[in-house]
Amino acid sequence: MLTKPYEVRFNSHILNKLIKMEDKIREPKEILDRASNITVLTGAGISAESGIPTFRGEEGLWKKFRSEELASQEAFQRNPKLVWEWYDWRRGIAKDAKPNLGHYALVNLENEKSNFTLVTQNIDGLHQLAGSRNIIEMHGNQWQIRCTSCGIIEQNHDVPLNELPPKCKNCGALGRPNVVWFGEIIPMAIIDNILIAIERCEVMLIVGTSGVVEPAASMGLIAKHTGKTVIEVNLETTPNSSLYDISILGKSGEILPILCKSN
Ligand code: APR
Repeated sequence: MLTKPYEVRFNSHILNKLIKMEDKIREPKEILDRASNITVLTGAGISAESGIPTFRGEEGLWKKFRSEELASQEAFQRNPKLVWEWYDWRRGIAKDAKPNLGHYALVNLENEKSNFTLVTQNIDGLHQLAGSRNIIEMHGNQWQIRCTSCGIIEQNHDVPLNELPPKCKNCGALGRPNVVWFGEIIPMAIIDNILIAIERCEVMLIVGTSGVVEPAASMGLIAKHTGKTVIEVNLETTPNSSLYDISILGKSGEILPILCKSN
């Protein structure tokens, strides 16, 4: 039998899934709806549904590669070409990646709120591509090359890079990815801005981060200790889940569109 054109039919499995999800999201959604000041912290998990691999977990990059050989100052001094080959490969994956529904849901949330800061550990640039505006990139950006001598930062979207390792267009010295490696210190101005955003917010939303890399791992705890409501969205529980107010288990691309939907 033909269905009328305006009838929307869900099979019962999808309908049950949606109802269950709406149920577990009702309380955190009310909290977010009431708040005008929100700070969000994202990690690799939010980009997973865009096809960008995370670092930890079964399929994580650190299962296949050794961080100390690829993501540290020592590694770069030892073999800049190897380090750059790794970033060139990651840029290749990210180049064709599109923001997913999770990224877009955060744009929607930013549009609704008077104070909104998005702190991300991701270097893939997908939040910007989705349209988020007030972003703090605490681990830098893989589409920028910083000169190891004069410090000039060049925006560069070439995939593959024309020259490995790339040279500074200004002074000809060796360029490095403008990212924060293990053992490096995040610039104090960035930390200050994150702490200000936490201080100002009523609710902190933490999405898709394993919560094991400092200082990002402590940001939710700082929020909690200073009286903010902390909501976590992750595929699985993290070491900090039990310390937060609410932990929602699921994919950010499915949870955030409901959580951040305008009323
Ligand atoms: N939705 C929500 N969460 C997800 C999803 C998804 N679709 N897919 C994976 N996750 C969760 C995982 O359960 C895990 O807790 O995302 C988290 C990803 O954790 P990590 O891979 O450790 O990424 P992140 O926390 O961002 O890593 C921090 O480590 O190596 C460094 O510099 C790198 O910025 C990175 C930092």
